Amino acid sequence: LFSMHPFYIVLVLGLLLLPTSCCSSSAPANDTLVAGRVFTVGDKLVSRNGKFALGFFQPAASTISKSSNNSWYLGIWFNKIPVFTTVWVANREEPITHPNINSTQLKITRDGNLVIVVKHANAGTESLVWSTHMINRTQTSNINTTTTSAAVLLNTGNLAVKVTDSPSSDLPLWQSFDYPADVVLPGAKLGWNKVTGLNRHIISKKSLIDLGLGSYSLGLDTTGLAILERRKNPAVVFWHWASSKTLSMSIIPVLKTILD
Ligand SMILES: *[C@@H]1O[C@H](CO)[C@@H](O)[C@H](O)[C@H]1NC(C)=O
Ligand SMILES: *[C@@H]1O[C@H](CO)[C@@H](O)[C@H](O)[C@H]1NC(C)=O
Ligand SMILES: *[C@@H]1O[C@H](CO)[C@@H](O)[C@H](O)[C@H]1NC(C)=O
Ligand SMILES: *[C@@H]1O[C@H](CO)[C@@H](O)[C@H](O)[C@H]1NC(C)=O
Ligand SMILES: *[C@@H]1O[C@H](CO)[C@@H](O)[C@H](O)[C@H]1NC(C)=O
Repeated sequence: LFSMHPFYIVLVLGLLLLPTSCCSSSAPANDTLVAGRVFTVGDKLVSRNGKFALGFFQPAASTISKSSNNSWYLGIWFNKIPVFTTVWVANREEPITHPNINSTQLKITRDGNLVIVVKHANAGTESLVWSTHMINRTQTSNINTTTTSAAVLLNTGNLAVKVTDSPSSDLPLWQSFDYPADVVLPGAKLGWNKVTGLNRHIISKKSLIDLGLGSYSLGLDTTGLAILERRKNPAVVFWHWASSKTLSMSIIPVLKTILD
């Protein structure tokens, strides 16, 4: 019975993906946030192909419930699907409280990180909500990140922080595909990056309102694809698929709260 869940989950999203050609918008979209510019609630980056958008949002379920006091997140969603469906969330564990949303900014800092901050106008200070936490590049390179870094929402749904005027600008300094939330999009990879040591895996949401880290994770282990129940110590394998081909996987698994 349990082994059915992952297939069900793939199917659900497969259906949502079908109508992507239904409502193409012709407005010129902006896919880039450059250093020196701030991005606030209501602003949107849209990938060049129009398929993905990035912005601040409240989980759909929380706008249905009457409370106007729910958390805000920065995320990427399918831009052409009527049902609001996120594919990535930045500040899963650091939601922005509703009273702070109008003083929240997304921007690129002097050292090249993409950050979410809340400005405290009276005190003239700001507090850090979320950051890409890249290594401090001002120490390792002479690139003036203040003028050359930008965050670009790519056609694949990958948010990439790049150095814009450099010959190596195709290599992102940071990308959301390396830090997936609960969805793997085609083109993203799970598992170990041998160069950086990063183990890319996805983790289910806590609930439809609280997008924080939930009970299940999906990633690669030494023999294949595994879903773990994270809250057990040690984590319990909930579902396992052994295959030599999992690294080239192009399926779209989503861990839904249905699993909880
Ligand atoms: C996109 O944003 C950049 C700054 O980030 C701005 O220079 C440019 O004019 C914008 N383009 C559009 C089409 O709005
Ligand atoms: C938000 O909701 C919580 C729990 O219901 C409550 O304690 C808090 O005071 C509320 N905050 C605001 C700003 O309304
Ligand atoms: C944020 O600003 C908008 C537009 O001015 C306003 O309608 C909304 O009530 C504000 N929200 C908060 C939480 O202050
Ligand atoms: C990065 O390094 C520079 C030069 O050493 C330093 O001035 C700056 O404060 C550092 N930034 C952070 C975020 O550590
Ligand atoms: C980086 O660019 C900014 C804006 O043009 C400038 O104020 C700053 O002096 C530059 N820093 C370096 C180290 O060149």
